[in-house]
Amino acid sequence: MILAPGTPREIWMTAEDCPPDVRELLIKILSIQLCSDCSALLMGRWILEAPPDEQLEEAQAVAQEFRHAAEARQMLIDLGYDPDPLIREAQSALDVRARKLDAFMTPITSWVDMNVYKFLGEWGGMLQNVAGMGSRYLPYALWCARTFQDEGFIHLEAGRKHIEQMAADPGKLPELRISVDKWYPLFVDMFGAKDSPNDLRCLERGIKTLSNHELRLAWLDGVLPALLEHDIAPADPLQGKRSRYPELTDTVAEIQANVAEKQLV
Ligand SMILES: [Fe+2]
Ligand SMILES: [Fe+2]
Repeated sequence: MILAPGTPREIWMTAEDCPPDVRELLIKILSIQLCSDCSALLMGRWILEAPPDEQLEEAQAVAQEFRHAAEARQMLIDLGYDPDPLIREAQSALDVRARKLDAFMTPITSWVDMNVYKFLGEWGGMLQNVAGMGSRYLPYALWCARTFQDEGFIHLEAGRKHIEQMAADPGKLPELRISVDKWYPLFVDMFGAKDSPNDLRCLERGIKTLSNHELRLAWLDGVLPALLEHDIAPADPLQGKRSRYPELTDTVAEIQANVAEKQLV
């Protein structure tokens, strides 16, 4: 343990150092994360749909998701939780009771669909990693930093590149719009409710450094300008599948105004 137990700046180096409530919160976060990475492995089905010179890169991205899942599994074991029934459940079918977010229970149905999923989902995953990099539980902070490298610099960039290429082809726009309408409401929900009790406890205990609301704002700021610029944005960016986010109204209006102004120039 680094720094004295009970001080506000306590840092935990091993699972044994963690107080029981911190362990419990980490198990919640990591079991959701594990199910997300198990689902991301399903992207393997689309490797051969990529342009031939990008297939190796696509395969490497799936291997990286496997590493994220394997390392999350080990952290859960270290915390005293047996993740293997969850992995079996998550892999047995898409739509199961495992701790999956709605987005990860939804099938990807085409190469266009996969790239919209990647663009919106990897952005969200990358931000979750940013929030965890400053965690007081060092194994989780390190995992987030390593994973950020893959999600932010490799997977997201691949999704962004393909979206830009597809959006430049007017024939692809209708399919892109249908896909954005399918995935956007699922991913805007992925950060959890604003000020949920678990969110506040995670922030108080220093398990993560950004709130659900801050993460959703950062995601919106990242994805919405690109969707508007390519004319594939959803009709109502405040609407998720499960919830509506009126607290994002001003940010959405500001982004819409900025993009409109840019397009006039
Ligand atoms: Fe991942
Ligand atoms: Fe990823």
